Amino acid sequence: MVPFPALEQPLNPFPRYEAMRHNEPVFQDQETGVWHVFRYDDVQRVLSEHATFSSRIGGDNPSETGQLFAASLINTDPPRHRQLRSLVSQAFTPRSVEALGPRISELTDELLDPVVGAGAADLIDQLAYPLPVIVIAELMGIPAADRDRFKQWSDVIVSQTRPGADETGHMAAHREMAEYFMVMIEQRRRRPGNDLISALLAAEIDGQKLSVIELLGFCALLLVAGNETTTNLIGNAVLCFTEAPGTAERLIAEPALLPQAIEEVLRYRSPVQSMYRISAVDTTLRGVPIPAGSPIVAWIGSANRDGEQFPHPEVFDVGRSPNRHLAFGQGVHFCLGAPLARLEARIALQAALSRLPGLAVDPEAQLERMESTIVYGVKQLPVSWQAA
Ligand code: HEM
Repeated sequence: MVPFPALEQPLNPFPRYEAMRHNEPVFQDQETGVWHVFRYDDVQRVLSEHATFSSRIGGDNPSETGQLFAASLINTDPPRHRQLRSLVSQAFTPRSVEALGPRISELTDELLDPVVGAGAADLIDQLAYPLPVIVIAELMGIPAADRDRFKQWSDVIVSQTRPGADETGHMAAHREMAEYFMVMIEQRRRRPGNDLISALLAAEIDGQKLSVIELLGFCALLLVAGNETTTNLIGNAVLCFTEAPGTAERLIAEPALLPQAIEEVLRYRSPVQSMYRISAVDTTLRGVPIPAGSPIVAWIGSANRDGEQFPHPEVFDVGRSPNRHLAFGQGVHFCLGAPLARLEARIALQAALSRLPGLAVDPEAQLERMESTIVYGVKQLPVSWQAA
């Protein structure tokens, strides 16, 4: 496993990023050997120049905990990446995502119905977590009722970068998840349905199908990627709207602004703060020599606050245009789930704003950041509104 940064991750990492952008935009942590990149242009290069900055962080011998994802597209380089991506894109088309709209609205209403009269709730527990996980489970054709187990596995997996994280717990989570998906894959192989796992089993490119390991890796990736990130996009949006007074009112009056507001949340509080690569060849970044084989962390959360790209980066501006944030990555690995995440966030936030009037984060709340250096969001988000 690549040694990840043992950097402390506070709820407000942004002043630290700013200092790094100015003082040491390309920085090597002497203790771990890991390089850290903070400026927009450099982060963009690291994410997109795949021949120089490889995604195969586990190399040919990934650790036990890295194995599940090693064969999935997020950890492969072209040309294999192109083949895998075309295979899964056959099953995960923009049209299939668009068709989910009515079901997402129905689920959102079902989740909000029991709480609208209460005037207060934990938004993460009641809406932001269950919605994406039910949607991805239904899409994959796995029982949404198992969602507590999914949450437990994905929480353990995204906390992997936390200093002092428990390696045995990670291995157990990976193993349990692999066993769970093996059973689901075998069921679909015997009796195909109208779901993503069946579509992935059937997908073929150049006469080749996904291997079982690749299928497993993709299922695990979807579950984790599709879970924590969209949950945090919804939670972070409510946090941003509360901090910028008048935003909720403006979005209710002008619902057409909501997609733009969501892009600004993605920039301002990026649900994925960092992504990793390993240099495939000797190279330089901003004139600093980086030898081949160096682990590199590209700080997306910092790039998205870079004043050279975004005027007044510290201002949350729902009308910001252009807004070329890197929250979904850049280049061949650009987030496959971006249309789904945007659709879910739009439907969930639209419903929350209209059904929970005066929605705001509880001013007394002690917000705590999730334990991860990659994923950014709060563990709980106590909110209140004027109940009818
Ligand atoms: C707000 C929500 C989300 C954010 C911020 C996000 C962010 C990202 C980022 C930054 C990458 C690029 C990784 C890299 O360059 O190494 C990525 C890739 C990916 N994301 Fe997302 N994601 C989100 C939601 C989703 C959802 C809902 C799904 C699936 C249901 C998903 C599936 C994937 C997959 C499969 C990849 C790998 C693509 C590839 O390597 O070709 N993501 N995501």
